[in-house]
Amino acid sequence: MTILVTGGAGFIGANFVLDWLSQSDEPIINLDKLTYAGNPQSLQALQQDKRHELVVGDICDAGLVADLLKRHRPRAVINLAAESHVDRSIQGPGAFIQTNIVGTFNLLESVRAYWNEMDSAARAAFRFLHVSTDEVYGSLSADEDAFTETRRYEPNSPYSASKAASDHLVRAYHHTYGMPVLTSNCSNNYGPLQFPEKLIPLVIANASSGKPLPVYGDGQQVRDWLYVADHCSGLRRILEAGTVGQTYNIGGWNERPNLTVVTEICELLDALQPRADGVSYQEQIAFVKDRPGHDRRYAINASKIERDLGWRPAETFETGLRKTVQWYLANSPWVEDIVNGAYHRSWIDQHYAA
Ligand code: NAD
Ligand code: TYD
Repeated sequence: MTILVTGGAGFIGANFVLDWLSQSDEPIINLDKLTYAGNPQSLQALQQDKRHELVVGDICDAGLVADLLKRHRPRAVINLAAESHVDRSIQGPGAFIQTNIVGTFNLLESVRAYWNEMDSAARAAFRFLHVSTDEVYGSLSADEDAFTETRRYEPNSPYSASKAASDHLVRAYHHTYGMPVLTSNCSNNYGPLQFPEKLIPLVIANASSGKPLPVYGDGQQVRDWLYVADHCSGLRRILEAGTVGQTYNIGGWNERPNLTVVTEICELLDALQPRADGVSYQEQIAFVKDRPGHDRRYAINASKIERDLGWRPAETFETGLRKTVQWYLANSPWVEDIVNGAYHRSWIDQHYAA
């Protein structure tokens, strides 16, 4: 048996692949375009591992996807490939439409053809797991209940709108063609191997190199944070026991205003790697121009996956954040390779210029 993972050289994908192969001998075909966010370095531990094959290619390439399905006959496809950064979607939405919508459509079409030709036992056992985000539900006010799976979709950024469109396509392929799909909507992830354009790794990397720690607007926007290994265990559980056609929210009940998150990172760094001058890293916090259309609050109600599938996160925000800061401090070459890359530098210069 084999599974096909898309986007497995990205942040969550690489964690998923490493995590999977630490618990199972079932091989993975990993289809990744290696955009700026895809990093084969993250998979270096698997270089000699015959259970993992990285195929550099695009989920929009119908011929390639059909060929991979035909050759490897996976029992499941886990779709993690995406353009994932909200700020980049504001600067240039085209790539988000292409990969997140057209790419997911293309995958669904290729998988449908493949699935249709299976015998009935294989058809029944097959799964297409689509990995999505809580951002499709839009923004909550301070006193609203956390998102449940039945919450109306109200995406506000080109990123979340493109993810919402892909979720709808996945749903339609179940309703119309009976395809055995599952969808997960997860809250903000953090942990090892996250590209340092996202808040937590950006703040750790900037703090260590004496740069400002950019906080958008008043820093009181709330995100619901989940340690990436807990997301991976949630995905494994949904794949194993989720009911076909259903969606599952994944979250850790860890709501935090951004400024609190940044302050907590500074406190950890103050303890683990104090500044030479003895001053707290909090001194580097810099309030910058807000993101256009910035969603105020996300919060996931994870009762369904807890109740129906018995899943629970292993980490609290405190334990997960400590592990994350420690990982970044211990893996500075991984971070520096990215931070010194021309593509990343030009993004930082352009985005934070004001
Ligand atoms: P990421 O940007 O770190 O990685 C995305 C990966 O997809 C990269 O390796 C990239 O090379 C690859 N990719 C991009 N376009 C591709 C294409 N056309 N064909 C093949 N590969 C392509 O993203 P991430 O944070 O790991 O997120 C993975 C998935 O999880 C995404 O679907 C995202 O929407 C979802 N998600 C992320 C979060 C989060 O907090 N990061 C939370 C919930 C859901
Ligand atoms: P991010 O990590 O980009 O994830 P998302 O936008 O998908 O939630 O951002 C998390 C929060 O941190 C979000 O409210 C925007 C904010 N943020 C900053 O305040 N400063 C920054 O430099 C970045 C990248 C994000």
